Amino acid sequence: ESSADNCWAKKAAEANTMTSTAMRTHMCGVLDVSHIGQTVSICGWVGRRREHGEHLAFVDLRDHSGVVQCVVDNNVDVRSEYVIRITGVVRARPEGTVNAGLPTGAIEIGECVVEVLNSAEPPPFPVDARADDVDESVRLKFRYIDIRRERMQRNLRVRSKINSAIRSEMESNGFVEVETPMLMPSTPEGAREFLVPSRKEPGSFFALPQSPQLWKQLLMVAGIDRYYQIARCLRDEDLRADRQYEFMQLDAEMSFVSQDDVLENIGRAVVAAAIAVTGEAPPEIERITWRDAMERFGIDKPDLRFGMELVELTSLFAATEFKAFAGAACIKGIRVDAATYPEAAASGRNKLDALTDRAKKIGAKGLVWMKVGADGAVDSPVAKFLTDSEREALVATMSAVEGDLLLLVADEWETTVEVLGQLRNDIGRPPVHQGPYRYVWVTEFPLFVGVDPVSGKPRPGHHPFCHPHPDDLHLFDSDPLKVRAQAYDLVLNGWELGSGSIRIHEPELQRRVFNQLGISDEEADRRFGFFLQPFKYGAPPHGGFAFGIDRLAAILAGEENIREVIAFPKTQSGSDPMTNAPTPVESAQLAELGLRLLPPPASS
Ligand code: AMO
Ligand code: AMP
Repeated sequence: ESSADNCWAKKAAEANTMTSTAMRTHMCGVLDVSHIGQTVSICGWVGRRREHGEHLAFVDLRDHSGVVQCVVDNNVDVRSEYVIRITGVVRARPEGTVNAGLPTGAIEIGECVVEVLNSAEPPPFPVDARADDVDESVRLKFRYIDIRRERMQRNLRVRSKINSAIRSEMESNGFVEVETPMLMPSTPEGAREFLVPSRKEPGSFFALPQSPQLWKQLLMVAGIDRYYQIARCLRDEDLRADRQYEFMQLDAEMSFVSQDDVLENIGRAVVAAAIAVTGEAPPEIERITWRDAMERFGIDKPDLRFGMELVELTSLFAATEFKAFAGAACIKGIRVDAATYPEAAASGRNKLDALTDRAKKIGAKGLVWMKVGADGAVDSPVAKFLTDSEREALVATMSAVEGDLLLLVADEWETTVEVLGQLRNDIGRPPVHQGPYRYVWVTEFPLFVGVDPVSGKPRPGHHPFCHPHPDDLHLFDSDPLKVRAQAYDLVLNGWELGSGSIRIHEPELQRRVFNQLGISDEEADRRFGFFLQPFKYGAPPHGGFAFGIDRLAAILAGEENIREVIAFPKTQSGSDPMTNAPTPVESAQLAELGLRLLPPPASS
């Protein structure tokens, strides 16, 4: 692995004509037999040092391109992580000492003149792969050392390549990068916002952007036609592997378009980014409707890398006498096939009980499991409640063979698909960063999802600016939860990479959506007047999309957590061990902002 990575770094260094500077002639990692006989100057950090005989020491000098072995006088006082400059002559290593695993392994630097540019305290952890096992808060506390490592160097460069590929693809498709404000009013996009108190207007606050959503729509009213931005977004959410407070989006918006126009243009940017990192284009991005994704995979971000699709069984059990299934709105099952998942299919009682508990936790009333035996016989606590023909039809419908485990749920449609979708992921889903890359567009999301328990009003499926599907407008008042939106997501290996929609450009329709959400005309004017007003002045039909660059970078870099592709991320608990942020501030600073702190909430 390390040698392949070094090759990558070497290519990067070779491509970079700016690597020689006043202090160095070459990068460490690019030196090889073609340089034998040349006098070179290289700069970097001291990696390993090994004493060799009485007079000599081997020093591995490291920069971001790799390491090279330097043979120095052992009187020279250089230690781990000292910053040094070495001028010496490239020579072939003596026979038998060539290291084939290292790009520079056939040569070494001799006749070294060593200049210590800076000494260093011993690093808190080894500056190599061993640091992967170090507690993450320690890695983040000393992030500037962590980033010296090959893994982080590679990841940040992957990210840079993605940004640059996206920019050039968007520019060549006629998109214009426009920077939008970080200080803005509070807006209804769904996540909790970070607030910034105003000094000039004590008691008033700016919000930091959850996304540039409002601005980009205004830019369409303003005739920009095609906007993009590699935009920083901020959301005060609980952090997870795919979530940080601050993250970056490729944010885009287009005028006079259909959904296909948006998907094609965003698709091109994603493909360009993937090619820039992996060197190859992913297969064409598939499409699936939200409804089909839920029916087949039980989730709106389906991972297409594996099968185990949900199988529809409701009509099969239409006349069943089995109490748990009789009259159920929706019965579905998944087949844990013994050939692909031998361990899960052979689950014993404890594991099956754990699966049942898990299903109940997600919301199921129970879970039926059946082990398929020879000749379609089934072993299950409920086998006795099924007729022979039900059992036979089940085994046939699920294409089950001996050794397979069947898991069945009966409930309302939402619960049935959601529970089985989760179990499917629990049992079969590979780590997100494991290839192959399976991109899929999920289209036709519902306009509203569920009902707010407090207000009794529908909640927006995405944000309140998504255009209803034109074919469903007649249901808008009578059956709002059935209305589809012209809203779509991009999913990669089971992660939501991005979302977008065709927007509402008609003020009247926007009001109707607000009203459905329980926001009156007056409230809409008060809260979003600045946004609604411009739509009276000639808003073109428009639509757009945003995808998370951190998520794409993590998967393409082979990482499971977006923290690994962010230079200075927050810990899972939302703090920065290096700067200690967030920190208390002086009371004078609070006073200036017109703020006084409440006593901290009593800890429970
Ligand atoms: P949405 O809220 O779905 O859409 O966000 C788009 C994408 O941004 C990424 N993302 C995050 N990445 C890291 N940490 C987070 N906390 C985080 N939150 C979101 C995800 C997500 O898919 N304005 C709309 C887009 C539009 O309609 O045009 C929006 O922001 O990859
Ligand atoms: P019960 O009749 O509640 O004792 O359930 C009998 C078996 O059916 C148990 O294994 C339950 O876990 C399972 N079960 C009960 N309700 C459901 C349901 N709605 N869907 C799937 N399995 C169920």
